[in-house]
Amino acid sequence: MKTFTVRACGPINADLVIPGDKSMSHRSAMFASLAEGRSVITGFLEAEDCLSTVGAMRALGATIKHAGVGTFVVEGTGGRLSQPAGDVDCGNSGTTMRLLSGIIASQPIRARMIGDASLSKRPMGRVIKPLSEMGARFTAEGGEGRPPLVVEGGSLTPLSYEMPVASAQVKSAVLLAGLSAEGETSVVEPGACRDHTERMLQEFGVKLELGTPNAEGRRKISLKGPQKLKGRDFAVPGDISSAAFWLVAGSAKQGSEITMRGVGLNPTRTGIISVLRRMGADITATPSDPTAAEPSGTIVVKGGKLTGTVIAGAEIPNVIDELPVLAVAGALASGKTIIRDAKELRVKETDRIAAVAGNLRAMGVNVTETEDGMEIEGGAPLHGARLQCFHDHRIAMAFAIAGLFAEGETVIEKVECVATSYPTFSSTLDAVLGR
Ligand code: S3P
Repeated sequence: MKTFTVRACGPINADLVIPGDKSMSHRSAMFASLAEGRSVITGFLEAEDCLSTVGAMRALGATIKHAGVGTFVVEGTGGRLSQPAGDVDCGNSGTTMRLLSGIIASQPIRARMIGDASLSKRPMGRVIKPLSEMGARFTAEGGEGRPPLVVEGGSLTPLSYEMPVASAQVKSAVLLAGLSAEGETSVVEPGACRDHTERMLQEFGVKLELGTPNAEGRRKISLKGPQKLKGRDFAVPGDISSAAFWLVAGSAKQGSEITMRGVGLNPTRTGIISVLRRMGADITATPSDPTAAEPSGTIVVKGGKLTGTVIAGAEIPNVIDELPVLAVAGALASGKTIIRDAKELRVKETDRIAAVAGNLRAMGVNVTETEDGMEIEGGAPLHGARLQCFHDHRIAMAFAIAGLFAEGETVIEKVECVATSYPTFSSTLDAVLGR
């Protein structure tokens, strides 16, 4: 059993390498596999989740060769996937299962997608519903929309879909299915959520129409099928969701200065920077090429004092994966931090509201759990504790950061799950702690 053992440290002065973006790594492997011709992907996140996608695309007929750290050469299928020989294993990755549902839906194949214990509990109804309306057939063997998920694809009819919640995975699944349906498929998102699929499909030669968002961020995205993707080279920037742990550590620890280069700065993902700045953090983010399909640049964070804030509404999708570590920031800030409208956290890799609230309490923080978030009384001294991460990588890492501020030792048990998104977190933590 792997553990993180952490104690309070002094100011953090470091230049950190942040691994590749998880969302973009998944999409790069999927889109290159669907494309005609060769693609070379660099900066790919070689973590378990994204390697599940690589394995799945291989099982569906793409030739994907590992050509050095973070580099994959993909010979695309030209959009014709093959019948997989056995189950398609999505591991712990909801993104793999939901986006693949959209891809397989339009193929004349039958695939059974399986996942680990955590993924097997996660709801797939949100993609089953629109994709079934387009003509794909699904069986959720786990009952109530839960995996294993059998998809029988075929020729689809286009769909105009109003998404009930802003979910990038649902948006992506419908658009990917729409690529093969004859006519216009559109998705209306009720508020902005990460737009990597839109940006990257365009990079791979797809024509999309992007509507103008209204005041609430409601926007229509449409494409006319059928369309083919063209192979191309794609460089994945660093993952701001991984940088998030060091952004919180650096912001809250006085005297710190942490530099992170080549980190993705897509505006649908930089909410963590806005929230921390609102809390008083000193963060500069300088894009290296603001015109790039996926902007990236250097982030520098300097330590100071944080004050509590409210994180709610339209901001939530932009910080959805960062909420566990933002809750830790709330505990370190003076005053109250309120997280609302984040019910989705209950169906992530674990129930992240219960996990965060329980662990913060174990460290001496006064937290009130609500159905869709929590209220955190910040500023109380944290004390070390023995914590569980519930097989959830982001819970494990968020509480390793909390441990850097606690009196005494914090031990987080069973942290193997960190390999799903940030396999080098432990060595970076050691470097930060000077061990
Ligand atoms: C992701 C979308 C988000 C996010 C997940 C990755 C993606 O999920 O939480 O980690 O790559 O599209 P939802 O679409 O369910 O909000």
